Amino acid sequence: MRIVLLGPPGAGKGTQAKVLAQELGVAHISTGDILRQNVKDATALGQEAKDFMDRGLLVPDGLMSKMLQDRFAQDDIKKGFILDGYPRNIAQAKTLEEIFKPKGIDIDIVVYLDSSDSVIIQRLSGRLVCSKCSANYHVTNMPPSKQGFCDKCGAALYQRTDDKVETIKKRLDVYKNEVADLIKYYSGQNKLHRLSADGPAQEVLKEIVALTK
Ligand code: AP5
Repeated sequence: MRIVLLGPPGAGKGTQAKVLAQELGVAHISTGDILRQNVKDATALGQEAKDFMDRGLLVPDGLMSKMLQDRFAQDDIKKGFILDGYPRNIAQAKTLEEIFKPKGIDIDIVVYLDSSDSVIIQRLSGRLVCSKCSANYHVTNMPPSKQGFCDKCGAALYQRTDDKVETIKKRLDVYKNEVADLIKYYSGQNKLHRLSADGPAQEVLKEIVALTK
């Protein structure tokens, strides 16, 4: 199964993709996680991307395209994948098709997780992320069992630098500028499925799983 998760920051793309990838036995490709790892490792890509990310802007398409090509050259994508955070505009959707064409593969479904601005701000301003395995928590919605530490691997949790309210609003603006075109693009290919992501995570997961049957 090859799935793209679309949706605003904070809709729950990462939360759902991690569980879904395990359930379906496919790879989880999060462009945000790959970029943050590059920033942490101070790679050339990380150094170029950091300022865009901190300001809530998209990292330039050229950098993203190279990163995606490298990721899709890895073997694990052969069993299928969930793509979380890419594409974010039409140019990226076309890049994806160019990467797929020689491999003879295509996206099966695009799941659009829709969420309201108030829910997004509440979720992102309380999000905590594991510094080692990238698991997501929320101070009230999904608190870890031991405050400040990951349930899965025990590493320390941190708040993302782009989860300040002003940066969240900027990320939402950037998202809204691009998403309408992407929705039209994937609707035109009969691949788009729209779900409300405002409900409990388990309910949202059930709805996504139903789409994969
Ligand atoms: P990225 O990391 O992809 O950020 P994003 O798209 O803004 O999405 P988020 O990770 O913030 O939200 P999410 O939908 O995954 O929500 P989550 O599951 O964490 O990208 C970061 C930056 O990298 C971008 O701004 C850009 O600069 C750059 N970038 C990345 N991809 C790029 C691309 N293709 N092109 C150019 N630049 C790119 O959930 C959020 C919180 O809510 C968590 O605390 C979670 O516990 C909680 N939660 C989730 N679901 C529920 C629920 N149903 N009920 C209650 N709480 C919930």
